[in-house]
Amino acid sequence: MNTNENLLLAAEWLRTSRHTVVFTGAGVSAESGIPTFRDAGGFWSDFPIEQFATWQGIAESAVKRPRRLADFVYAVLEPIAKAEPNAAHRAIARLEQHGLVTVVTQNVDNLHQAAGSGAVHELHGSFYEIVTPGGRIVRRLARHDLQRVAESIQRVRSGVAPLARLLWSLRPILGVGPRGFHRPNVVLFGDALPERAWSQALDAARDCSCLIQVGCSGTVLPAAMLPQEAKAGGARVITIDPHSSHGDVWLSGTAADILPQLAAAAYGDG
Ligand code: OAD
Repeated sequence: MNTNENLLLAAEWLRTSRHTVVFTGAGVSAESGIPTFRDAGGFWSDFPIEQFATWQGIAESAVKRPRRLADFVYAVLEPIAKAEPNAAHRAIARLEQHGLVTVVTQNVDNLHQAAGSGAVHELHGSFYEIVTPGGRIVRRLARHDLQRVAESIQRVRSGVAPLARLLWSLRPILGVGPRGFHRPNVVLFGDALPERAWSQALDAARDCSCLIQVGCSGTVLPAAMLPQEAKAGGARVITIDPHSSHGDVWLSGTAADILPQLAAAAYGDG
């Protein structure tokens, strides 16, 4: 099938869907300026997973290579603090005008909510929430809070006494405060997924008639099981991604290009 036939078929599945799940990964935010993890130039190509993707690795990096950890935190935080929703986030939010839509995301950047999506299940948490080790939210951040932390970390990267200054810069989001230990509400490798978000995502995947996966490499479990769960329940699976082709139909291209086209083909309102 050529690209146009794929688009028309996917649009027909979307238009006739009783319940649509949009399952997103880092690729949906790439055009908002946030790097993905595994593409060339992605986070894990610059910062090894074993040093930066677990709390233990981060603690060790703080002691052994604090300046490098400052580089990592800055690389993650600065684009998130600056990012605005792109045409893909906005098209996903508009799908709700046409029927039941549930958004399930692996991203921690709050961009679906900023674009206006209602039901968003964040499987890997949110950088905008600060929690206790038990997961209780102690503070919700605004974008300018993250921007301020990013600016302060930027100064640590070139200065003296990097560990002490890094810890001082991070204290709005990580450290010990009057209410005990606090940290960003993000899931790293080895952490359990937030129970409620995961069970609601699983229920939605099992219930839906169409699942659109956008910008997901499908490499990280258990999130990567959702398309298979949807398929096992009889749903059609549409993949939007420039490289990754799994699913019943593949719309090859970027999220911000393809999603408005798909919405236009389904409802005439790209
Ligand atoms: P990855 O970096 O693994 O994959 C990004 C996907 O987005 C790839 O399939 C790319 O081809 C695709 N992509 C790149 N640019 C795109 C664009 N403009 N439009 C659409 N797609 C594009 O990111 P995730 O699959 O989200 O978890 O990674 C899953 C998890 O691995 C993350 O949540 C994070 C990471 O380690 C944890 O840290 C626990």
